[in-house]
Amino acid sequence: MKKINYKIIKDIQYNSKSDSLVIGLYSNNKFDFKDLDNMSNSIVSEMISSEELSSESGKVEIIYTPNKIFKNSKYSKIFVVGLGDIEKANNDSIRSAFANLGRISLAKNINDISFLMDSINNKTQNSDNFILSAFEGFLLGRYVFDKYKSGSKNENEITNILIISKIKEDQIRSIIEKAIITSRAEMKARNLVNEPANTLSPSELSQYAQKLSSKSIQCKILDEDECQKLGMNAFLGVGKGSVEPSKLIHLSYKPKKEENSIWFIGKAIMFDSGGLSLKPSGSMLSMKGDMGGSASVISAIEAISDLRLNINVEALCLATENMPSGSAQRPSDVVKAMDGTFIEIENTDAEGRLTLADGVTYAKRLNAKAIIDVATLTGAAAIGLGRGNISGFSNDSELMEKVISAGLETGDTVWELPLDSISKKQNNSLIADIKNTGGRNAGSITAAHFIHHFVKDTPWVHLDIAANMMTNSDDRWHNKGATGIPTRLLIELANILQ
Ligand code: BES
Ligand code: MN
Ligand code: ZN
Repeated sequence: MKKINYKIIKDIQYNSKSDSLVIGLYSNNKFDFKDLDNMSNSIVSEMISSEELSSESGKVEIIYTPNKIFKNSKYSKIFVVGLGDIEKANNDSIRSAFANLGRISLAKNINDISFLMDSINNKTQNSDNFILSAFEGFLLGRYVFDKYKSGSKNENEITNILIISKIKEDQIRSIIEKAIITSRAEMKARNLVNEPANTLSPSELSQYAQKLSSKSIQCKILDEDECQKLGMNAFLGVGKGSVEPSKLIHLSYKPKKEENSIWFIGKAIMFDSGGLSLKPSGSMLSMKGDMGGSASVISAIEAISDLRLNINVEALCLATENMPSGSAQRPSDVVKAMDGTFIEIENTDAEGRLTLADGVTYAKRLNAKAIIDVATLTGAAAIGLGRGNISGFSNDSELMEKVISAGLETGDTVWELPLDSISKKQNNSLIADIKNTGGRNAGSITAAHFIHHFVKDTPWVHLDIAANMMTNSDDRWHNKGATGIPTRLLIELANILQ
């Protein structure tokens, strides 16, 4: 991951190393560019008043001043980031606009950049969040996954950032620190999702998690024998066709003694071929990302610990690979889950819910006070709500509301779907307690009902991220490939609940 150096100064009259200066421009701009004008024969104000510069939200224009119009500085480019109407700007529009700046600056190989931060502040709203969003967007927009591009040197690159602001230094510093932690967490989740399954097996994900153990995070890994002893046959059945051993990964962050935790359970199918109910090859291509839920919960707990949030959090990932072979689980098999439920396997491609069934039982045995599961669970989530929404389900309206508001803050929007009694019946099995598919209708809802069967009354929210874990174009602050969602939502949720 790229290193970031930043420095905060009050006065623009500073001998900056960078030749690039960033300003934010609202259509009804109220910011006084006088300090900048003093250095540059009023170039900025003149261009604004002559309407040469666009303030359209998300548009980035570059003013080149190669003849050193600026006195006492090296600035030869001014990046003007359009932010639109000040009254309509919000965290998402700011994050998106600065992601565009991130992408452009990356394409131009700019690694030293100065921000005239106070031009982004919005007096009518909470300006702190705008600075956070701007920085998140800038860093996320610069994300690339190029470790398999020969000769790439991105890993060791340093981005130098100079922040020019009259706001109290402590205040700015804590916002920037937070933006670096949250956006890096999301980028780490993207890295895990972009990593192919031949280099990220259940064992390799376990090793990754193990490396996070520090004074404040504990990591426990259970192997197949230990899971067997706990009776986790729903989980273990999924991995029966794979040569890769399944692993249960349990991370704990417990700043508070004697208190129950909120549990984040992430689906961790390292590759989903469908098993014997094999997927067509086109649908299989993105299935290295079927561990997107686990990528986000692992990255979130790391960030929550880095931010020292005062709440107990556990992250749980039942990692396995869904493959066809002579030892694979068959459609029509019956397995006994950890809680004793007999499950008829109608379709081996509905494997995520089987791992989550034992995951929630494990969490309940350890006295979970609340469970958030995050899973690339159903193609139907994209059919129902498209790519712009995470499908949410819950048995607890208060918890659901908190998840939704965390998502509004971070731009990971959640839309709640019902757990109605009619679709619940679609999971009824002729010969067992429940079956793992409910037919074509309401595919995301029946999957959620299945998990609910095991969660029962424990406060719970299920987030189906199948529609959002990857994107096929650069979009807002996501670049083509893994999105890393809903990592920042989970961090914000912990922040709300602490
Ligand atoms: N991992 C898939 C869901 C998925 C689809 C995620 C597309 C991301 C993009 C899941 O395991 C699955 O295969 N679900 C089936 C369920 C069906 C067999 C009931 C589906 O959605 O088709
Ligand atoms: Mn599947
Ligand atoms: Zn799957």
